[in-house]
Amino acid sequence: MLEGKHIVVGVCGGIAAYKVADLVSKLCQAGALVDVVLTEHAEQFVSALTFSALSQRPVYTNLWEPTGEAAARHIALGQAADLLLIAPATANTIARLAHGLADDMLTTVALAITAPLLIAPAMESQMYQHPATQANLRLLAERGATIIAPESGRLASGEVGQGRLPETPTLLAQIRWTLGRATGDLVGRRVVVTAGGTREPIDPVRYIGNHSSGLMGFALAEEARDRGAETLVIAGAVSAPMPPGVEVIRVETTLELRDATLAALADADALVMAAAVADYRVEHPAAHKIKKGSAEENGDGSLTLRLTQNPDILAEAQALAEANGLTGLTRVGFAAETHDVERNAAAKLRRKGLHLLVANDVSQPASGFGVSTNQVSLFYADGRVERLPLLPKTEVARIIWDRLAPLLSERSADKVKR
Ligand code: C5P
Repeated sequence: MLEGKHIVVGVCGGIAAYKVADLVSKLCQAGALVDVVLTEHAEQFVSALTFSALSQRPVYTNLWEPTGEAAARHIALGQAADLLLIAPATANTIARLAHGLADDMLTTVALAITAPLLIAPAMESQMYQHPATQANLRLLAERGATIIAPESGRLASGEVGQGRLPETPTLLAQIRWTLGRATGDLVGRRVVVTAGGTREPIDPVRYIGNHSSGLMGFALAEEARDRGAETLVIAGAVSAPMPPGVEVIRVETTLELRDATLAALADADALVMAAAVADYRVEHPAAHKIKKGSAEENGDGSLTLRLTQNPDILAEAQALAEANGLTGLTRVGFAAETHDVERNAAAKLRRKGLHLLVANDVSQPASGFGVSTNQVSLFYADGRVERLPLLPKTEVARIIWDRLAPLLSERSADKVKR
């Protein structure tokens, strides 16, 4: 989604300027055209050559260079840009932007740009917390800019506080999300994605779990976010890092997952159940840690756990949708199978009343739990089957939303008609 996008990155004079070199490199690797504009102070920290070597494009610094080219360029940059990110944004530049000053190349470009503006402040926490900086940021936010809150941690002064520039993945996620909100095919949609595995307690320290890492669910959530959807992730136990830029609800058990999922459906356009949900839970979890030789043991020293069936969340979602006339709710299930993938998948699609079922054979080494690739087949409600090759999970997520986006439009047109 960054391919061919024209991104202007404004860099101010803060120590975090060096971190933005990595961001520019990642943006270029993703196929974006990146024009870097440095303030005079930024050049004290990092050179224009660093950025031009990474972007393979000229870097703009001085508005008043003798050729006059930069002065003419600021309007062209403004017209071509899909997004302007200012990172790190210093208190000084934030103040100049808030008051519409245009006394250098960056502030002049900022006035000439109509594309979305992202501002990532980074400075000592006293400067960030200062009422003047906060008032300026509010002013910019009111005018439509998105402020990426600085993170807390150790600052250049050695003090600990809020003021650190977020790491590259967070900045990239914000850029993708902002571009998605401007032009994505899921703008105006609300999607719910479940991810990770459930844990069913045996006693206060033990549980029955599974190998789900959350990678597939998170890839789906990030892709939805990047296409402009308002995205809610309901996450069980995961080993992958939480995706930025999405709303997250954490759950542990299947019953908690069910409650959170059903509560989120009233205004959702799609439910994608990528979570690995336990079909059974321990009927009576022990209140205390079960010890060897304790009363829970059978006479021969063995231990019996009686399991009871969990509700099927997708089936309940279907019933809820039917009972409440949620005709625009598209439901997607996942099937992790170890054998007879196709036959089981088709049966599951019907049983759970799904619009799409994504089936994978988790007995294959490079597919399924904990790995970054997946080999899936897509089963549609009309009987079609689409077999995909082994792909990165991010690519599988892209294809799934490619297929779902038109389905969502059809279904909500249908909803409007009714
Ligand atoms: O029946 P099976 O567990 O294989 O179905 C998998 C699909 O159903 C997944 O999308 C999973 O998230 C969902 N599921 C559910 N409620 C359950 C078990 C699984 O919604 N109790």
